[in-house]
Amino acid sequence: MSPQSSFTRRDGGEYAYTIEATKLKFGVGAIGEIGADAKALGMTRVALYTDPRVAKLEHVATAARSLRDAGLDVEIYDQVEVEPTDRSFLAGAEFARAGKFDGFVSVGGGSVMDTAKASNLYATYPADLLTYVNLPVGKAQPVPGPLMPHIACPTTFGTASECTGMAIFDMLEMEMKTGIAHRELRPSLGILDPAALTSLPPLVVAANAFDVFSHAIESLTAKPYTERPAPETPALRPMYQGANPYSEIACSEAIRLIAANIERAMQTPDDLSAREPLMFAGMLAGIGFGNSGCHVPHAMSYAVAGLVRDYHPEGWPDDHAMVPHGISVIVNAPAVYRLIGPSAAASHLRAAEAMGADIRNIPDARAGEVLAERVIGLMRATGVPNGLAELGYGDADIDALTDRTLPQKRLLDIAPRDISRGDLGQLFKDSMQYW
Ligand SMILES: NC(=O)c1ccc[n+]([C@@H]2O[C@H](COP(=O)([O-])OP(=O)(O)OC[C@H]3O[C@@H](n4cnc5c(N)ncnc54)[C@H](O)[C@@H]3O)[C@@H](O)[C@H]2O)c1
Ligand SMILES: [Fe+2]
Repeated sequence: MSPQSSFTRRDGGEYAYTIEATKLKFGVGAIGEIGADAKALGMTRVALYTDPRVAKLEHVATAARSLRDAGLDVEIYDQVEVEPTDRSFLAGAEFARAGKFDGFVSVGGGSVMDTAKASNLYATYPADLLTYVNLPVGKAQPVPGPLMPHIACPTTFGTASECTGMAIFDMLEMEMKTGIAHRELRPSLGILDPAALTSLPPLVVAANAFDVFSHAIESLTAKPYTERPAPETPALRPMYQGANPYSEIACSEAIRLIAANIERAMQTPDDLSAREPLMFAGMLAGIGFGNSGCHVPHAMSYAVAGLVRDYHPEGWPDDHAMVPHGISVIVNAPAVYRLIGPSAAASHLRAAEAMGADIRNIPDARAGEVLAERVIGLMRATGVPNGLAELGYGDADIDALTDRTLPQKRLLDIAPRDISRGDLGQLFKDSMQYW
């Protein structure tokens, strides 16, 4: 089988895809080399970003020691807000601007890595917050040029923020999540040290695993890159190009690894033989979705996270209501597979097969259902919420959820079929309760 077999080139259609990825270093103990890596990138005065909980972990102490042993000046910013907001991005940027740093290190989950990216951006090219923020919330002006070097060291494994050019935050006033998306935001290096994962609480492991699943499944089932018209010049090729042969292989393997290890990883925190494959899967899916893009479940998740009233999940800080990212995505996902499955049956079945389903003799009309059943089974086994109702939403919220999802055009456009306002309303209704 040719690697291009699922992608049919058409006259005038896109004929090429680009795989862009951050340089990544992976291995237990790799964090101890960060001093040499920072020096090689020309850093002399480093801002080390983390959050108050991760700041107490050995991982941060090891990174700071390695940086100082290499002769670098290090200041620690440990005030990153988990599930960051416009307010916390601005506070991080102010620290960066005042400190006159020439390099950034982030040690933490997506919240920390995204805050460091935004801080680096606004310290390098000062502007109002909305200047670089995605349309329609912000002005989406392109980042003017390269940022200062940034080494991202994930202590979770789901977001793949170490490989992406995205920084996501909650715009409090508008009650919706949005972000900044530009290639220049990609860190210069990612250091993935699986030893960091042993202290992750079980539900944070589950939320991260479902984020990886969602990145991988949405990449696989996205509109194939060959269905876009060819760009007039190569520079106009979008960062999110749609499903492509590389993302297909990387994402199928990521799904298989997560499905095979997730339950054991939740039960045995110290057993790296179960947690290390999760971090590898997150990296594979990250490179895959960073080039292909996610679609409907992620588009819906920004509304689900933004409109939260009083959900306080176990394992996250209790100082404000929040729906953690992986949970805000997966609660929508089975309803989406059921709707769009018939439009992209082969890729939905490929994902279900990677989760262990027997896909022989399944008609196209049932492809989404087969995948939905697999994912719902894993949601139940890992104790994540049973749909939007458990997060505090009801039918009266559907219009507000839909209003905040429709603007996510960049994501909705790479779904394998058109998604109307009516479709979104029905999807939110169908996501209320699964079992
Ligand atoms: N930039 C991107 O490409 C991208 C992609 C997906 C999600 N995101 C964003 O990332 C954020 C979510 O990131 P996340 O899921 O990595 O979690 P997180 O950074 O929000 O952390 C979750 C919780 O786990 C704690 N924690 C982190 N590492 C730990 C460890 N090793 N041991 C013990 N506790 C630990 C944190 O203190 C926090 O309480 C959201 O804001 C989401 O929107 C960004
Ligand atoms: Fe995600």
